Amino acid sequence: MITFTLNGKSICYDGDPSVTLLDYLRDEQGIISVKDGCSGQAVCGACMVEIDGKPRLSCVTKLGKLNGTSILTLEGIPLSVLTVIASAFVKKGAVQCGFCTPGFIMRTKILFQENPNPTRAEIAAALRQNLCRCTGYVKIIDAVELALYNLRTGEISEIDDAGYLPRYKALQTACGRLPFVNDMNKEGLLHAALRFSEHPRARVVKIDSSKAEKVPGVIKIFTADDIPGDHKTGLIQKDWPLMIGVNEITHYIGDVLAGIVALDRKTARKAATLIEIEYEILPPVTDPFKALQHDSPLVHDGQPNLLEQCIVRHGNTDNEFSQAAFVAEGNFTTQRIEHGFLEPESALAEPEGEGLKLFSQGQGVYVDRKQIATLLSIPEDRIRIQQVQTGGAFGGKEDLTVQGHCCLFAWLLQKPVKLTLSREESIRMHPKRHPVSMEMKLACDAKGKLIALKLIATGDTGAYASVGTKVMERIAGHASGAYFVPNVDLISKTVYTNNIPSGAMRGFGVNQVTFAIESLVDELCEKGGFDRWQFRYDNALDAGLSTATGQKLDKGVGVKQTLMAVKADFYNEKYAGLACGIKNTGVGNGMTDESYVKIHFHHSGKITISHGWSEMGQGVHTMAINIFCRETGLPPENIEVVVDTADRLVTGMTTSSRATALMGNAIIDACTSVRSDLKHKTPEQLAGNVYYGKFICDWTTQPSDNNNHQITHFAYGYATQMVILNDSGKIKKVIAAHDVGKLLNRQLFEGQIEGAVHMGLGYALTEDLPMKDGQLVSEKLRDCRILRSDEMPEVEVRVVEVADPVGPYGAKGIGEIGLVPTAAAVANAFYLFDKIRRYKLPMLRD
Ligand code: FES
Ligand code: FES
Repeated sequence: MITFTLNGKSICYDGDPSVTLLDYLRDEQGIISVKDGCSGQAVCGACMVEIDGKPRLSCVTKLGKLNGTSILTLEGIPLSVLTVIASAFVKKGAVQCGFCTPGFIMRTKILFQENPNPTRAEIAAALRQNLCRCTGYVKIIDAVELALYNLRTGEISEIDDAGYLPRYKALQTACGRLPFVNDMNKEGLLHAALRFSEHPRARVVKIDSSKAEKVPGVIKIFTADDIPGDHKTGLIQKDWPLMIGVNEITHYIGDVLAGIVALDRKTARKAATLIEIEYEILPPVTDPFKALQHDSPLVHDGQPNLLEQCIVRHGNTDNEFSQAAFVAEGNFTTQRIEHGFLEPESALAEPEGEGLKLFSQGQGVYVDRKQIATLLSIPEDRIRIQQVQTGGAFGGKEDLTVQGHCCLFAWLLQKPVKLTLSREESIRMHPKRHPVSMEMKLACDAKGKLIALKLIATGDTGAYASVGTKVMERIAGHASGAYFVPNVDLISKTVYTNNIPSGAMRGFGVNQVTFAIESLVDELCEKGGFDRWQFRYDNALDAGLSTATGQKLDKGVGVKQTLMAVKADFYNEKYAGLACGIKNTGVGNGMTDESYVKIHFHHSGKITISHGWSEMGQGVHTMAINIFCRETGLPPENIEVVVDTADRLVTGMTTSSRATALMGNAIIDACTSVRSDLKHKTPEQLAGNVYYGKFICDWTTQPSDNNNHQITHFAYGYATQMVILNDSGKIKKVIAAHDVGKLLNRQLFEGQIEGAVHMGLGYALTEDLPMKDGQLVSEKLRDCRILRSDEMPEVEVRVVEVADPVGPYGAKGIGEIGLVPTAAAVANAFYLFDKIRRYKLPMLRD
């Protein structure tokens, strides 16, 4: 018998002493403020609790060790203390996706006991065990400072009106009361697990489930034979099988061979290990250059390993190079990057009427619905998907992962089923940021005007197409960066291998190519003796000039203004690495970007805004309310935001920094009628009214050799970042000047950029996910080397507003551009310090 106190209540436990405290709290006590972010890897801090006054990770604490202890979760903290800390997190904008926040709040409470008046450095050191992928820790440290001040002084920080709305449902999220998918429960809920392939390329000879079936609690084991409809899904190409069947060949180690449904998750996972698979092992294709050789095995039978080659050419590049005054060139390579969203993939599906209802944390409920319908071979309208707050995504939740399997199992069993990946499985399964090799050559004339650019980029897109071709198209399309280069010869190749697929990740190819071009810009400056700031200013894109794809920019080009925003600091600092960036808003390239909204005034007084974009921490729901209130003058209280396919507001993927721009315009459209009705009616008199709005951009074109009338994207964002080193060569500060078009919510904007800079610094310095022979070198999140709170330098965000002609009120997308210039600015700063040019990321990995 183990006895302990939990949140002031005495507990006598006589079960298995090897059960972790995290599982006990979540499964047996129904406590959801403790999150499972890393499945016992002891790396994320999302499961943090207080044990006898000390911070402890509940995921690695066994119940057998807890006899006589006193345990606290957020549910047991006096409300007065919890409110002070959580309010400070909300007030300071420290809550983005919020998956990490309860862990940080717990750590703050314990820090107050240990050291009630710490310095910022001491706070950063105390938070070291807690990982956040969204905020860059800046606002979290601000929040801890404020919370401790308030606890010391007894003041309560009200959530004040600073001209922007606090994040939607931030307080519930911070306190751990807003359930994520894995926190949800249903009557009779069954639990699923997946069995993954052990080999990146192997023929499956036999799947023997007999031992697994005998495990008590196992309900059913499914294989590819059980899929009623199409076996394959895919965002662009349908090449990704939900499960690999007998006699079929695996394509990577994240391929699923079987699914197990059991009474509980532990049983399902145990049974998954007992399925015996017989393979005929085949040599994997793991090097994209070897994959392009004529004698390479094919990753997909009957399809070349070169999935796509994108070519963009204008002018006479060879001629310009032959006459150039200065030429810089280099071979640059970038690494595979794990998204590291704190919430691993999770889905819960249950029968509803004649169909299914899915609770999802994916990035596109309508796109998911379409794919699931083809798997199950039922009409789309029999599947309803409700988006649940997503614990970070960054592009890594665009492809269908657990949602398809979960729906299949729930559909075939006609029972509610939940499927949540462990951290190891998450790293193994979802697509990553592309590793890319880039041969680049850049030329300017004697006066420092850029005249020509050449690029051959080769991207390892891994086992499945995902959106890899689009990522590589962005590399070509953004190759000239934030500059006008009249002659370009750009080739980007998307190559299949048996590595983990590469797909969407924040920056979508532009980070990679910006590292190359901005490094060469500095090289040209050195060769020609040009001033690095002035050279950039003189070559910067401006109204009337064209991007690499030949799109002539009209209004709203803010590169020069972002350069002006850092000019004084640049000339004052000894080691100031500079880089500019451009990033498209919207998918574009000939595809339609569209958004539909529905605004419903209920008889209860509540107003719901329905749209189709996923809230994953970036603040799209907050922006929906922000824009609605601005348009109508109505207060934000009693407004709810809903993303549910039952509303039939068909929307694409929440991607390419486009959600706020498209949704904002759709809300403005709907509000025209609301405003008109409000002229002669009170809001109460609008009860029962439903207003629809839409915004459709169908005027973009595919990049081509034709230089005329191209609009490859409806908008772009622009930035300049400066990385400043101290006299020892360490990064002391990053200044990020960003053209947002129109600032709608300063706190959300700063939070996005600070988080992106953190991600960009990790990309530049330490992050990697290496593979060898098609296998991961490590499945540990710790080995991805995401920067910790005490590894972050100071980050200063500066706002530049050059109105965009399309975005709502002139606003531009900001989700991705925050890390586009970062790696290059770091590389350029390091070069100033030690005169070593870096061609490979990451630059400081041990
Ligand atoms: S779940 Fe415990 S440290 Fe991540
Ligand atoms: S807010 Fe910290 S991980 Fe999302």
